Amino acid sequence: MSETKSMQRGADARSTAGDQAWDIAGALARILRDAIGASLGVAGDDADPALRSSTNPKFGDYQANFAMALSKRLGRPPREIAASVVEAARGPIAAIAEPPEIAGPGFVNIRVRTGALGAALAAIDCPSLGVPDVQGTRTIAVDLCGVNVAKQMHVGHLRATIIGDTIARLHERMGWRVWRENHLGDWGLPIAMVLASLRRRGTDLGAITLADLNAAYRAAQAESADDEAGLAAVRSTGAGPHRLIELEAQHSGAAAAAEDARRTLRLLQSGDGATVADWRKLIDVTMHEVFETAKTLGVDLRPEHSRGESFYRDRLAATVDAFVRSGLATEDQGAIIVRFADRERPLLIRKSDGAFLYATTDLAAVQFRVQELGAERVVYCVDARQRDHFADVFDACRMIGWTRRRDGTDAELRHAGFGAVLGADKRPLKTRSGENFTLKALLDEAVERGTFEVRRRAEDPQAPTHGMGDAELARIGRAVGIAAVKYADLSSDISRDYVFDLDRMISFEGDTGPYLLYAHARICAILAKAGDMDAHAAIAPDVPEERALALAILRWPSTVADAAHALEPNRICGYLFALAGAFSGFYQACPVLRAEDPGVRASRLRLCALTRRVLADGLGILGIDAPARM
Ligand code: ARG
Repeated sequence: MSETKSMQRGADARSTAGDQAWDIAGALARILRDAIGASLGVAGDDADPALRSSTNPKFGDYQANFAMALSKRLGRPPREIAASVVEAARGPIAAIAEPPEIAGPGFVNIRVRTGALGAALAAIDCPSLGVPDVQGTRTIAVDLCGVNVAKQMHVGHLRATIIGDTIARLHERMGWRVWRENHLGDWGLPIAMVLASLRRRGTDLGAITLADLNAAYRAAQAESADDEAGLAAVRSTGAGPHRLIELEAQHSGAAAAAEDARRTLRLLQSGDGATVADWRKLIDVTMHEVFETAKTLGVDLRPEHSRGESFYRDRLAATVDAFVRSGLATEDQGAIIVRFADRERPLLIRKSDGAFLYATTDLAAVQFRVQELGAERVVYCVDARQRDHFADVFDACRMIGWTRRRDGTDAELRHAGFGAVLGADKRPLKTRSGENFTLKALLDEAVERGTFEVRRRAEDPQAPTHGMGDAELARIGRAVGIAAVKYADLSSDISRDYVFDLDRMISFEGDTGPYLLYAHARICAILAKAGDMDAHAAIAPDVPEERALALAILRWPSTVADAAHALEPNRICGYLFALAGAFSGFYQACPVLRAEDPGVRASRLRLCALTRRVLADGLGILGIDAPARM
């Protein structure tokens, strides 16, 4: 994507924010755009100055690459085009930058004046750090977590929870109204199956643990398992895990257990008091552990965010009716399906026995989220393997008009599908005994490793943590362990699988959570040593490393806006890693506490403080706690 576009997006979102003196890139882009218009008579998209940050400070701070594209369009040599634009921009640009230089085939290199850079930094040093704020005028629903009742949270739910929380925080940071929607698997035959099995055994539901439930789930599955041939047929259709489980149970024919499960489901559906009360207990047991885990993870997930499949149960019949009435759904051997013009695979919304499906619930949920919650964006943080499911659900909703909002605009539906977490053998993560890793086991190990690392470092008499009490070391160790896991989960393209390698994640060096925490704590230590500082000191970034840090800080607002727009938390991670790197370059090249000139010292201290704030802000968006000492 052209950086200009993202700069423009930043500017649009900020247009109400008043003073944007920090927005050097935006100002440069506007000046160049006007100059392209004035000197070449080109406007609109064609006048894109194609401005980006320079990769090499030798060529200035920014580079504008418009000349090549315009040369083709206008049939004039690119250097000539660059020259006439630079000439037209000369006046307005002078306050911000040195006279631009034209290089190579027609690149325009721009070097920002130190004064302008300092003024921009002073301006961005405000409570918002320049990040756009829509002040509650926009609404997003984030589908996250999505655990299934009676089943242990596994590593996949770790991703659905962490990624969902970060996307929610990103939007909260920009002032969106955010609905966290925990679409629990709390309804339907699988739950009824577990419930029936527990009741048959006479299990005391008051004293049950999630591990018991998990075992019951597996036992119930085994009891109602179908003959292999039937299941193989279902599997070969490539239906997702949910459809599979529904169909597994359906295919299990006359098995008594399945019959019992169906009877229990009917009781549940008809609101039978005792059955509903038992069902609630299953939910409570499951959610107790989910909320504990959320707390450990530092994820904002609370009971009021739960709106599971059961919430939609009374809307399913009407959902199917609406599709039938509008002619979008047809009957097919007793079942109701929606067909699409461009794909073979239909979407099954009611089975021949009258039961509704996972997809039916999701159709109802889209309508609810868009038309009742008023979301203009609905984001699904769900396993990438459910891609077809969401493609079908989204298209069906578009066809029937359920993406239409009250104000007549169309909501954006997005599946932020994530990849699998793999073990060192590149296969889905398993424990030594071959079980799926539970989330809790994984986090416990990370915290243990983090604590070990922090204790080890505290033994060094030079370490800022030396002599700290045990409880405090444990608190920092926990922060390190959790930061390691979360950062690793967020720092690469979420759609990709990644290898869960705790050794790498927990390292204090490289692109890791602990490295960023350490960078943050290091700045805290500098600031603590400095004592009182002048929060309004003039900032004058002169030295190249100082300029590089300054320019990195100024990229923060557009980074946040872009990460939210693209639903790519890894952009925040990549930015923070680069910022920490720029800081470390600065700190090596520029004495801060030992700077001789008091003005230089004050300027550099303010740069340190600003860097710390941006780091903390970014880690906050990732839901990572940043201790002051490490
Ligand atoms: N319960 C589902 C699972 O475990 C995830 C739910 C995702 N959200 C949704 N609206 N379908 O895979």
